[in-house]
Amino acid sequence: MPKTFSIAIDGPAGAGKSTIAKRLAQDLGYYYVDTGAIYRTVAYFFDLWQINSKDIDAVSRYIDELTVSIEYDEEGNQHMIMNSLDVTGDIRTQDISQKASLVSALPVVRELLLDMQRDVARRHNVVMDGRDIGTVVLPRADVKIYLTAAPEVRAKRRCEELLEKGQKANFETVLKEILQRDKQDMGRSIAPLKKASDAVEVDTSEMNIDEVIQEIKRIVGEKVSL
Ligand code: DC
Repeated sequence: MPKTFSIAIDGPAGAGKSTIAKRLAQDLGYYYVDTGAIYRTVAYFFDLWQINSKDIDAVSRYIDELTVSIEYDEEGNQHMIMNSLDVTGDIRTQDISQKASLVSALPVVRELLLDMQRDVARRHNVVMDGRDIGTVVLPRADVKIYLTAAPEVRAKRRCEELLEKGQKANFETVLKEILQRDKQDMGRSIAPLKKASDAVEVDTSEMNIDEVIQEIKRIVGEKVSL
């Protein structure tokens, strides 16, 4: 199998990872892999069965009943399939965001999903975003970016996103949820969110999307000749 290229983009919730990674993948003709969607699918499954992620026994028992897979449509959009059901549209709620952050701290869940993520990168050129891509999933990624922004900026962006979708958004509540998720994602003992030692940090607080894309392309261009 020929060598594939991988670009890992990690960072906290609301830093703009998915928007940036998706556009970058489109521009480069790579696959975009949103790994947060995989954890969201697991959280959705447990939510559906009303299993509390703190109940490790129940989680271990029910996890064997779960099959998660990724499919791409003709436009290259990622779809999440849970036991042959397309749940792509169901996993984008604030409630599932919090639950995904909790289930993602469980070793049994991370183990289940590790090979699947690596397998996509083995078969395709990818821009993969998440929390542990540069540190755990693809420690040999060709380029690693750590995308960040001030919590207030991330909360403001999330509010704008929610309002655009016609959903309610309260700045203080959204900020609180973002800080809570940062704490959970950075504080867990397995694969916590952190900047890989060889990642380049990009603070997007004062940048627009085009500027971030341009900066990342510059970094990518420095590391590899595409
Ligand atoms: O990127 P997101 O907001 O869709 O991710 C939802 C949660 O999933 C996030 O709070 C932590 C978890 N996650 C993870 O632990 N590892 C990843 N590679 C991606 C997401």
